Amino acid sequence: DQNKFPAIIAHCKEYGFVFPSSEIYDGLSAVYDYGQYGAQLKKNIRDYWWKSMTQMHENIVGIDAAIFMHPTTWKASGHVDSFSDPMIDNKDSKKRYRVDHLIEAFAADLPKEEGEALLAKMEILEKDADYAGLKQLIDDNKIKCSVSKTANWTEIRQFNLMFSTQLGSVTDEASEIYLRPETAQGIFVNFLNVQKTGRMKIPFGIAQTGKAFRNEIVARQFIFRMREFEQMEMQFFIRPGTEGEWYAYWKEERMKWHLSLGTSPERYHFKDHVKLAHYAKAAVDIEYEFPIGFKEVEGIHSRGDFDLTQHQIYSKKKLQYFDTEINQNYVPYVIETSIGLDRMFLLTICEAYAEEDLTKDGKEDSRVVLRFPAKLAPTKLAIFPLTKKDGLPEIARELMDQCKSSFYCFYEEKDAIGRRYRRQDAIGTPFCVTIDHQTKEDNMVTIRYRDSMEQERIPLDKVKEIVLNAIS
Ligand code: GAP
Repeated sequence: DQNKFPAIIAHCKEYGFVFPSSEIYDGLSAVYDYGQYGAQLKKNIRDYWWKSMTQMHENIVGIDAAIFMHPTTWKASGHVDSFSDPMIDNKDSKKRYRVDHLIEAFAADLPKEEGEALLAKMEILEKDADYAGLKQLIDDNKIKCSVSKTANWTEIRQFNLMFSTQLGSVTDEASEIYLRPETAQGIFVNFLNVQKTGRMKIPFGIAQTGKAFRNEIVARQFIFRMREFEQMEMQFFIRPGTEGEWYAYWKEERMKWHLSLGTSPERYHFKDHVKLAHYAKAAVDIEYEFPIGFKEVEGIHSRGDFDLTQHQIYSKKKLQYFDTEINQNYVPYVIETSIGLDRMFLLTICEAYAEEDLTKDGKEDSRVVLRFPAKLAPTKLAIFPLTKKDGLPEIARELMDQCKSSFYCFYEEKDAIGRRYRRQDAIGTPFCVTIDHQTKEDNMVTIRYRDSMEQERIPLDKVKEIVLNAIS
């Protein structure tokens, strides 16, 4: 439900997951900072992806290419010419709109069928890059829509989404470089380096995580669409002619990865692309049902030999592979899996967030709990001495020392136990352990489970094992 979204955004800020960037200066539009728990959650998601892609696939290796790349990279990749969105300005309000977002706003104001017909028309015109047609569509429909009734619109222009800057101190065109809009190109330009030094045999993959930058015209919906974000991408190099089977394989494999985190399957679906990106022969999105509706989290793209061929042309270097099985030299084809780390983070929070009514026997009570999978939770174990004295903190500290090299623990001795539990619920800690006076007699502690809120007595020396089992 829609109301959940503002509550989640507020929770992310209140509990140190996500802050607006440079907030003391009122923030920077569509840029966010991850706080103490957010950074850890993000790292855990990244590590989970990295391990499942590289360690668990013998034929996939990971690299870490630079954000800055030779400017010709982006000519070859097609981003200089084609990585743009059509936009239009409202001359009166001076507001800038992405054409598709504006027409979507029109459609929302129309009766359902009329709105759907409008969107279908837009899709066809967009696919043909017919900007005069799109402008006509806006002019014909603006009268019906509240945001545009009397407005005066400019022509539609292409707006390139890449950020550029200058390399070194000389400012001429040759020194203009871009912040990468996708991590994939760092993989393509290193294809031969990795293939040769790693003695990789096709089919094989190269994985990478890292920042990407896009000057999104309209950035909205919290961390869903940002100007600086992180991608986790993998390019899988294959023999031409095998793209159909590998596309199907990665589609299924990636959906399995999502479901391995325990997410409800009915909140996921595939959506085929109608409008293909400039590099793609086939493309499908994995969409998740956020509180704001089904939206893209990951894309699987069949890129053919587009990128390697382009780099071959522009660099004049052969980017080919000799396949000893068939005695042939060829430019490999590529299946790409590309997931946004920030979107996966948002998905994880949305899936975990629950407001629970715990009213019992007329006594009002409630809690907010983040039911993260234990392996993703920023803190795994909270350790509470019941009181600050009587030797209890010493026992608690000893447990902390035993566990902290294996996983994140949190130590706290202030406040009533109930309040300490609730604070851990709010940051998604799966286990809390309380050391009380009885512990000194029998070496037993109370373990409290986040999801069921149940408590039981267990031996102190079993705590570490229980947590390790849950997160492995
Ligand atoms: N290399 C292919 C590629 O970049 P994409 O569909 O443009 O494909 C892949 O992006 C993923 O990156 C998306 O599925 C999304 O999760 C994430 N992403 C793209 N733009 C984003 C933005 N402005 N903010 C946050 N995540 C974004």
